Amino acid sequence: MKLTVRTKDRTYPVYIERGILTRAAEIIGRSGHVFLISDDGVPVQWQSILQKQYPQAHMHIFPHGEENKNMTVLQDILADMLDHHVSRNDTVIVLGGGVAGDMGGFAAACYMRGIRYVNIPTTTLSMIDSSIGGKTAVDLHGHKNSVGAFWQPDMVLIDPDTLSTLPKRHVVNGLAEAVKEGMICDEKLFAVFEKDDYMDHLDEIICRCLEIKRDIVERDERESGERKLLNFGHTFGHAYESVSGLHAYLHGECVAMGMMTVLADEEIRARLRKVLERMGLPVRCQADPQEVMRMIRTDKKADHDTISLIQVHQIGKGTIETWTMEETERKLHYE
Ligand SMILES: NC(=O)c1ccc[n+]([C@@H]2O[C@H](COP(=O)([O-])OP(=O)(O)OC[C@H]3O[C@@H](n4cnc5c(N)ncnc54)[C@H](O)[C@@H]3O)[C@@H](O)[C@H]2O)c1
Ligand SMILES: [Zn+2]
Repeated sequence: MKLTVRTKDRTYPVYIERGILTRAAEIIGRSGHVFLISDDGVPVQWQSILQKQYPQAHMHIFPHGEENKNMTVLQDILADMLDHHVSRNDTVIVLGGGVAGDMGGFAAACYMRGIRYVNIPTTTLSMIDSSIGGKTAVDLHGHKNSVGAFWQPDMVLIDPDTLSTLPKRHVVNGLAEAVKEGMICDEKLFAVFEKDDYMDHLDEIICRCLEIKRDIVERDERESGERKLLNFGHTFGHAYESVSGLHAYLHGECVAMGMMTVLADEEIRARLRKVLERMGLPVRCQADPQEVMRMIRTDKKADHDTISLIQVHQIGKGTIETWTMEETERKLHYE
């Protein structure tokens, strides 16, 4: 399947096809030089498939994990690009999860004031959520994604075969974002998780999520309106992520707990709980409410005494609401 994403700066294709990694060079094209970026948690079997197609290219492999999505590692990547004489006309190809995509994309955005990059996401989270939308970033002093840029890829190649090596915890972590998309705008997508085994529908789920995100991002590239819906579960989720340290829970796990915290409708809450528990995702965070509130007050979406939050009163339809800090805090004491 091929999707086209049209943004103000760039129009680019997203290919979703099993085995496409083996044809990457043919699709990307061999003109100009390429610089490959990956991390050491991505199985060598995938890296070598790409490397074989670009025998002259250097692959920069950085240490995996969120703790390495920082300015120091970014600087190493940029220095390596300089050492390898990467020019303005060359292309960065990133192979890996959201950490590699965010940091490799940001390296491409900064290097020589911006060069082309191709994203090859290899986790469910990066396929579903971070491969399109143009957000690139690194963390600074424990603050997630606090330094970054909007920089659109030239192309995205998604090969669901690469998920065969991904541990189950990471598979469901990314799928939490798919459940979220079902909740905010596609009842049918939510029903797949409710009724069937999601593993039988992986390709279909990835494609549907990309379509949803593509449509929202095209209409609201800079997150001034509708794109905010994608933040469902993320206000509490980001706070849980920060309070419990960047290592205790994965992003999607925090989003799962964050959706449960924010939901007001009992029936919807019960349906979501069932889906999340069946997938093996956590539904309640034990974090200290005071600490969580401290993080929420510093959230980008907070404005002194109120905060903009996403609520779902009907599955498949998210709404943007403004809550007071008291209302927000009350949710944290609710079982
Ligand atoms: N830019 C955006 O719009 C956006 C959206 C959501 C999340 N993010 C970012 O994405 C990051 C999380 O992404 P993630 O969950 O993919 O984490 P990740 O990139 O850390 O990948 C998880 C782990 O799996 C390994 N891995 C990658 N592919 C694999 C494969 N096919 N088989 C086996 N192991 C593999 C990685 O090396 C890593 O150790 C966070 O930093 C988050 O901020 C960005
Ligand atoms: Zn998210």
